[in-house]
Amino acid sequence: ATKQIPKEKGLDQTLTLLNEGYRYIPNRRQNQQSDIVQTRLLGKKAILISGEEAARLFYDENYFKREGVAPRRIKKTLFGENGVQTLDDEEHKHRKLMFLSLMTPERLEDIKKITMRQWISKVPEWKRNKQVKLFDEAEEVMCRSACEWAGIPLREEEVSQRAREFGDMIDAIGGVGERNQRGKRARQSSEKWIEDIVKKIRAKKLKPAENTAAYIISFHRDMKGKRLDTHTAAVEIINVLRPIVAIGRYVVFSARALHDYPETLPQLRSGDDTYTTMFVQEVRRFYPFTPLLGAIARKDFSWKGYSFNKGTLVMLDVHGINHRADLWSDPDEFKPERFREWKGSPFAFVPQGGGDHYMGHRCAGEWITVMLMQTSLEFLTNHITYTVPDQDVSYSMVRMPTIPESRFVIEDVRDRA
Ligand code: HEM
Repeated sequence: ATKQIPKEKGLDQTLTLLNEGYRYIPNRRQNQQSDIVQTRLLGKKAILISGEEAARLFYDENYFKREGVAPRRIKKTLFGENGVQTLDDEEHKHRKLMFLSLMTPERLEDIKKITMRQWISKVPEWKRNKQVKLFDEAEEVMCRSACEWAGIPLREEEVSQRAREFGDMIDAIGGVGERNQRGKRARQSSEKWIEDIVKKIRAKKLKPAENTAAYIISFHRDMKGKRLDTHTAAVEIINVLRPIVAIGRYVVFSARALHDYPETLPQLRSGDDTYTTMFVQEVRRFYPFTPLLGAIARKDFSWKGYSFNKGTLVMLDVHGINHRADLWSDPDEFKPERFREWKGSPFAFVPQGGGDHYMGHRCAGEWITVMLMQTSLEFLTNHITYTVPDQDVSYSMVRMPTIPESRFVIEDVRDRA
């Protein structure tokens, strides 16, 4: 027998989503006392799902596709057009392999060294200034590191502009009005910049190393043996650079966690990599970044007695899953130790998506993210000392993406003796 999916009243909940942010899906679950809820978003029927089994379903390509999922406003800001996020099946796997081929152990080691050097080079300036806004500095350091690693030339006088543009694309996700417009302008400007670089690389006027993203993406061949058009190549290079800048947000949350839980400092300083990894994983679980993800049902099917119709938009409760009481004990407490015993289900811990990196849409940059968070923490705890002045470090659960109100200000930066 088919079960009825509990249904939210009202015409359309797009505004409710924007008003409730990270709590939108968890609130619907609570309202309906159900991990599956039917609603309307962007004028269409949508089904919200949560839980480990729901994530497993969401990543099953027999049932879901991504083509047509991203709304125009996301393609104009965060994603770009025709990027890997919008592809399905063989075409997706072929393109995905292009990204994953960048993540060799040697290249991961490279970006780690680059990022540590970039952090350290900021210290003299920080020592001269009384206060440092960590969020701005983190985005700048990540932008410098991303471009250097990816083989993208970055002139000193354009660093702050480019860093801000990547930041603005990320910041636009849940923004309406001015924040969305800023994201759009940032994408247009970035794409123009990178398209020009792709043209120069193809014309051999610029010669990045063969193992860099700039080279690999510029000369990538699609399944028919054709190069990506200049625009798509730029979109995909930006799909490497922009999310590295996004790691700056996790660096700020790491600093905030360190500030709130100073008892973790000795362990972070002890050189115990296992502890640093657990801390970083807990930052990714605990603090909100990606609120939800969407996919479209490929066909009519039934799951747990509920029927899904072909073409229906389904949204996965990404942030909520990382805080579910059936998957995490004391989910709303920050406890790095929980990761010591963690079994590692790819569908219970989903800050950067779930499932398999090669087969599905799970984030291609998860290794870089974890590594650069560790490197940045090592820098903050072992290379410098600083104080944290009074400020509002709270973060909104409505704003998507969220960030501490003060952007995390630090003072009295010194080299750690
Ligand atoms: C996809 C989050 C860093 C490259 C994704 C997805 C999420 C995500 C939620 C979508 C998963 C899905 O659609 O099922 C994040 C967060 C990051 C981060 C929160 C750090 C703050 C990175 C980095 C890179 C990267 C450092 C590359 C260097 C990608 C790519 C995709 C992706 C290429 C598309 C994968 C696909 O559609 O198959 N990321 N990511 N991300 N990410 Fe990340």
